[in-house]
Amino acid sequence: MMKRIRIVELLELTDFGKEITTMGWVRTIRGSKNVSFIALNDGSCMKNMQIVADAEKIPADVLDRIHSGAAIHVVGTLVESQGKGQINEVQATEIKVLGEADPDHYPIQPKRHTLEFLREHAHLRFRTNLFGAITRVRHAMIFAIHQFFNDRGFYNIHSPIVTGSDAEGAGEMFQITTLDLNNLPRTEEGEIDYKKDFFGKQTNLTVSGQLEAELAALAMSQVYTFGPTFRAENSNTSRHLAEFWMIEPEVAFADIHDNMDLAEDMLKYVVKYALDNCKDDLEFLQQRLANEEKQKPQNERSMPLIEKLQFVLENDFERITYTQAIDILKNSKPNKKKQFEYVIEEWGADMQSEHERYLVEKHFKKPVIITDYPKDIKAFYMKQNDDGKTVAAMDVLFPQIGEIIGGSQREENYDKLMTRIKEMNIPEEEMWWFLDTRKFGTVPHAGYGLGFERLMLFVTGMTNIRDVIPFPRFPKNAEF
Ligand code: 4AD
Ligand code: MG
Repeated sequence: MMKRIRIVELLELTDFGKEITTMGWVRTIRGSKNVSFIALNDGSCMKNMQIVADAEKIPADVLDRIHSGAAIHVVGTLVESQGKGQINEVQATEIKVLGEADPDHYPIQPKRHTLEFLREHAHLRFRTNLFGAITRVRHAMIFAIHQFFNDRGFYNIHSPIVTGSDAEGAGEMFQITTLDLNNLPRTEEGEIDYKKDFFGKQTNLTVSGQLEAELAALAMSQVYTFGPTFRAENSNTSRHLAEFWMIEPEVAFADIHDNMDLAEDMLKYVVKYALDNCKDDLEFLQQRLANEEKQKPQNERSMPLIEKLQFVLENDFERITYTQAIDILKNSKPNKKKQFEYVIEEWGADMQSEHERYLVEKHFKKPVIITDYPKDIKAFYMKQNDDGKTVAAMDVLFPQIGEIIGGSQREENYDKLMTRIKEMNIPEEEMWWFLDTRKFGTVPHAGYGLGFERLMLFVTGMTNIRDVIPFPRFPKNAEF
């Protein structure tokens, strides 16, 4: 078989007269009795390759089998293109149909489909321009994240997916078991006997790799995880998934300020990577967003996508404390007029996404990092501040998204951590290994978690998180 040239490379070639082989899926086919024009895509780029199929060279019974969605193998001659917007095209000498797509049944027709429709056809949505673009940008962002941390001497750690602990203490875990649910083994006290379960104890899918990343950081100095995390929170929103990917750096000898600097540098690095490497895809996504926003009143439209990405690159993130944020919110118009769903009454309130978005989109008009939250609304492992009320937490808030990163400096003092574990009723016996790091060679350290799909929402300008992961998991849905 002659070497297949990917379309992204083929589109650049100018050695006209050369014989080439390429393969892909037909986006459209049009033409007359004498000549057909096939727009061919293989996922390697946004643009299609134009294949010209002359009726004299390609038999009618072959052409008759080619419709949108069919997979074909093309051998032909590279020629200069007469059309505009392309430098070359392929004059086919032979076409083999690898896989037909019956036009009466193929769901992805060359027209605009709604995002809802495409979600129901997630197995085929990769074949649209939109999901091709999202898939390529997603890959680029994964690559950029690894590159960022590698360049800075971080080690990637695979934290376990099966765990016995609840890192966030929020109890939103998916339990895993091989016990027969119709016939559960019981202890003498009548409780489920997890000693008989596969791992000999109760286990669940991880909600975060942080605790294990901390173990590694307290030896390797700087590490990061990039893995799937699972949360059984029943929040049917456009920003929550039950299965999502999280990047969790953890750095020894670092405090909350180092942590904020790292988060800001990382976000700027990956956004710049997208601007530098995903131009065609971002332009397409920008156009999509602009079309969608046409339905909104002028003053509610967001900046064009590329401008928005540029803006994040060029501006320092605003850094304020929780206390300052609550003051701003309490005095804000929507709070006074009770336009917020949750009106902020007093210090101690948990901020909702409507508040986060007000701060970012209306008040500061740029990304905001909020620090020093009340300890009662944050996880047990966060470093307790001297005021006795707050912890050294930091949340990074982005326009249209709200919280994109959550992190903190960690409590490295054994006694203080132990007190918090007791106060919050965290099962101490499950935590012995975590506590050991505070007994042996403890150091100040800090880290954070970036929700990868939240980053993807920002970079692609998509508005529903179910559209930036190939196969979304959410309440009542685990199809594909
Ligand atoms: O703020 P979270 O819960 O923080 C942690 O899990 C810490 N252990 C991180 C750390 O310090 N190492 O989650 C971190 C981020 C959030 O800011 C958000 O971007 C994302 O994960 N996230 C979700 N993304 C999609 N769907 C969900 N259900 C999410 N829950 C959190
Ligand atoms: Mg959080």
